[in-house]
Amino acid sequence: MQDLERIVADALAQFAQAADSAELERIKAGYLGREGVLTIQLKGLGKLPAEDRREVGARINAAKVAIETALNDRREGIERAQLEARLAEESIDVTLPGRGRERGGIHPVIRTWQRIEGIFRSIGFDVADGPEIETDWYNFTALNNPLNHPARSMQDTFYIEDKDANGLHLLLRTHTSPMQVRYARTHTPPIKVIAPGRTYRVDSDATHSPMFHQVEGLWIDEHISFADLKGVYTDFLRRFFETDALEVRFRPSYFPFTEPSAEIDMAFQTGPSQGRWLEISGSGQVHPQVIRNFGLDPERYVGFAFGSGLERLTMLRYGIDDLRLFFEGDLRFLRQFA
Ligand code: PHE
Repeated sequence: MQDLERIVADALAQFAQAADSAELERIKAGYLGREGVLTIQLKGLGKLPAEDRREVGARINAAKVAIETALNDRREGIERAQLEARLAEESIDVTLPGRGRERGGIHPVIRTWQRIEGIFRSIGFDVADGPEIETDWYNFTALNNPLNHPARSMQDTFYIEDKDANGLHLLLRTHTSPMQVRYARTHTPPIKVIAPGRTYRVDSDATHSPMFHQVEGLWIDEHISFADLKGVYTDFLRRFFETDALEVRFRPSYFPFTEPSAEIDMAFQTGPSQGRWLEISGSGQVHPQVIRNFGLDPERYVGFAFGSGLERLTMLRYGIDDLRLFFEGDLRFLRQFA
């Protein structure tokens, strides 16, 4: 029989050196497992003379208890060390100030866009959306503005070098008016639609930006007149500015795609800009040739169109005097509308 005290001492020394629980369990098996040193000792008890068994058995059991106790201690020790290592690694400094979460806001021009959609939807207008990269045909030709027509220079634009799949010239749309043609060619009258969106021109100063927003309006049916345009637009302005104290003026103008054409001016009857006329929209009765390009019979269908600048409407609503503020991304400005 081996010296039990030495076995216990060996076990304790090995346990102490075990680096992790896997190694510890492996060492344990060497003593207490099926082929373990102590197990073999216990099995050997049967071969001893009967009078020795009791005493030797008790000694082996005591050794087993000593080893098991040491084993449990070491298990706990390893677990505690692992926990401490994790805590040290994942420690958080609870005294740091919180990061907080910034509140976002809707851009004032987009707010105007949303308000306009709400107002026109409430009087039965559909809302349409179309491409910002447009063909020359939709942007100009279909709107009665043929190649080399001098009116094209009213809207100097950004041309794209590549042509589209059909060999048509491409450009960034200079207005939302091509949406009149796109929508009318895919819908049947009565046509009642607005098309808000981004538009582009080679222009940049306090009141012009190379990218800006317009909303197109189109109402085509059998008996739509200029009076309807006046009614709809005046009502729209009163709802948009939330006041009846404004005047609207239709000033004769020219657009190739409307005849007659008018600029729409408005003036507040109260407030700091009282009585000052401001141009906010182009408009007119849709030209018969454009009705034809819609695929409709101009003898039967008439109607009006308008195209208004969203930045303009936003500037008037909030009393902003420099358009560039909309595009600089200065939070001191934008937060005022959040
Ligand atoms: N498209 C014109 C512009 O951008 C505005 C307009 C739209 C005029 C519809 C008449 C009818 O200047």
